[in-house]
Amino acid sequence: QKGGYEHFMLKEMHEQPQTVTDTLLGRVPEDSRLPIEIPELNITPDDVRRVERLTFVACGTAYHAGVIAKYAFEQILRIPVNVDVGSEFRYRQPILGKNEWVIAISQSGETADTIASMREGKEQGARVLAITNVVGSSVARLADGVLYTRAGPEVAVASTKAFIGQIVGVYLLLLYMAQYRHLSPSAQQVVRELRQGLWRSARDIERVLETADKTRAIAERIAEKPVAFFIGRNMDEPLAREGALKLKEISYIHAQGYPAGELKHGTLALLESGVPVVALATQSSVYDKMVSNMQEVLARDAWCIGIVPEGDERVTQLLGEENVLTIPRSNDYLHVLPAAVQVQLIAYYAARALGRDIDQPRNLAKSVTVE
Ligand code: M6R
Repeated sequence: QKGGYEHFMLKEMHEQPQTVTDTLLGRVPEDSRLPIEIPELNITPDDVRRVERLTFVACGTAYHAGVIAKYAFEQILRIPVNVDVGSEFRYRQPILGKNEWVIAISQSGETADTIASMREGKEQGARVLAITNVVGSSVARLADGVLYTRAGPEVAVASTKAFIGQIVGVYLLLLYMAQYRHLSPSAQQVVRELRQGLWRSARDIERVLETADKTRAIAERIAEKPVAFFIGRNMDEPLAREGALKLKEISYIHAQGYPAGELKHGTLALLESGVPVVALATQSSVYDKMVSNMQEVLARDAWCIGIVPEGDERVTQLLGEENVLTIPRSNDYLHVLPAAVQVQLIAYYAARALGRDIDQPRNLAKSVTVE
C-alpha cells in the first residue's frame, strides 16, 4: 500500500510531480495559442468580466493555499481578494455582494467549517465555487462550480500532495480568468510565464525530492530543538505558516510561522543562541528585505536556515553553504511549489528522527467533519 515507502506521507510527497501534471492535463494545452477550458467550473467569460471580489475560505493547510491565492490574484489580476479560515468566516458577519465569489478550498471536501462558510456565501447570494480533491464530496455537491485537484487519495493526516494540487488549482483558476480580464502588458507576461512554467514545476519538485539528503540532515538537527520558527514575505509568508503547521503537526516541536517583517514586533524576544529559524527567500521583490531579516536573526546568534533559488549568492554567503537549501530557479509564483516541498521535507525528517507516528499524529483526524 505504501509502495515501498516507509510512510504514506513520504509516498505522497513523492507523488507531487504527478499531482501537478495530472491537475494540468486536458486543461492547459501545451500549445499556448489554445484556450484554457475548465467546463466544470460553470462560469462564463461574462461572469469572469463581472466579478468584483473573491473570498477564499478554507482550514489548515488549505487556508494557506487560499493566502497564496490572495497574493497571486491581487498581484496579477488586480482583483480584490479576502481569505478567511472557515471557523471565522460565518461568525464575523461577512459582507458579500452579488458580483462576488466565495471559493472553498478543501482536500476532503468534508470539512465542517468550510461547508458552513459555503452555505453562508449562498445565503448572501454569492456564487460559490470549490477547489477540492474528492469527486462528489459535500463541498463539490454544494458548489455552483468545481475545480478538481487530481492528487488522488491522500492517506497521511499531514496534507502534502493535496496542498500542491490546491496551489496548481488556484493558478489554473487564475489562468482561466486571465483570459477574460483586462491585464497590463507586464501582467500578461507573468501569465504567459506561469502558464508555460507550471508544466515544468513537476520537474522542479522532483529535483527537490532528489536532493532531500541535505534537508534531512538539517531537519535532524532541528529535531533536537524544542522550538522552531519559519519566516517569509509575500508568497513565502503563507509557506512559512505552512512549514510551521507541518512541523508541529507531525513532530510536536513547537513551531511558529511569521511574516518576516513582524519579527521585530515581538517574536524577536524569543530568539537566542541556536534557535532554528527557517527563512524563505524565494520572492525576488522582497529578497533584500529577507536578507535584512536574516541579519537580524544572526545578530541574536540564532541558527538561520535559508531556502533560496539555485544560483543565490548573498544568502549563501551570509548563512554558509551548509545552512542553505535550494529550489530550482524559475519565477516567484512557481517558486512556491518546490519551496512548499522543502518545508514538508523538514517536517517529515524531523518527525522521523523523533520516532513520531508520522501518518497518524496524536489528537488529529484526516477529515474534520465536526465544528
Ligand atoms: O480536507 P481539508 O483540506 O478541508 O482539510 C483542512 C485541514 O483540516 C487540513 O489541511 C489540515 O490542516 C492538515 N492536517 C494539515 O496538514
